[in-house]
Amino acid sequence: MAAIKGDKTIINGKDFNNRPLYRMFSNVPHRYDFLNRILTLGLDQRWRKKAAAVCLESNPGRIMDLCSGTGDLAIELSKNAKPGTEIIAADFCEPMLEMAKHKASRLGFDDRITFQIADAASLPFDDGYFDVVGIAFGFRNLTFKNRRSELYLKEICRVIAPGGRLVIVETSQPKSVILKKLSGIYYSSVVKPAGNVISGQPGAYSYLAHSAKNYFKPSDIENMLKHIGFMSVDYRPLWRGIAGIHVAKK
Ligand SMILES: C[S@@+](CC[C@H](N)C(=O)[O-])C[C@H]1O[C@@H](n2cnc3c(N)ncnc32)[C@H](O)[C@@H]1O
Repeated sequence: MAAIKGDKTIINGKDFNNRPLYRMFSNVPHRYDFLNRILTLGLDQRWRKKAAAVCLESNPGRIMDLCSGTGDLAIELSKNAKPGTEIIAADFCEPMLEMAKHKASRLGFDDRITFQIADAASLPFDDGYFDVVGIAFGFRNLTFKNRRSELYLKEICRVIAPGGRLVIVETSQPKSVILKKLSGIYYSSVVKPAGNVISGQPGAYSYLAHSAKNYFKPSDIENMLKHIGFMSVDYRPLWRGIAGIHVAKK
């Protein structure tokens, strides 16, 4: 259960305002979509569309867009999901989810999506509730140098039905040494300074640049997910591995 009390955001009795990631995301929503589009030259939306198509491949009846932020994956899902599909957009950050609600309502998809404030460490759903959980560009936040990483992964696995899938679209590490070097330069010299200035939040885009540049290889993610209990994990690179889609089956 979530509540806002003064300047505190309480979820399941815990105050999230002292969590650095929570504070960071609470301060960027107004510029978040704009920065995504310009810093990826619009590729982020193409990648989410692909991830949404992968989520829908198994014709799921219940899907969660976890770490939904401003709701782009949930909106993409609601464009193509079969009628009656339950689509839940969950995030622990109320200001991001408020943006998501406004956008979904402007685009006419708000009646297809349920918005839920929730921490990935304690999701308010029964075991095996979802056929698919999708995460767009939030998995890195849950797992990069995050001491709660294992807790999040176990919780995500818990809410997926046996045979269900976790679909993750995330920045990745290209195999090509040259491309890896170039993407590193792009993160440090474009994403970090431009993001920090335009968002007005020095630090937010330094974190993005640092975490994306130093993030795990696809094989590390496969090992991490298998260790938690997923049976198989495949990887589909996007843009020669600058990003990628990981599909884990429970
Ligand atoms: C980089 S944004 C991605 C947003 C969106 N999915 C997209 O495609 O742009 C990461 C999101 O994860 C959310 N988040 C981070 N840690 C979380 C947690 N422990 N539980 C729930 N949401 C979390 C943040 O609030 C933020 O909205």
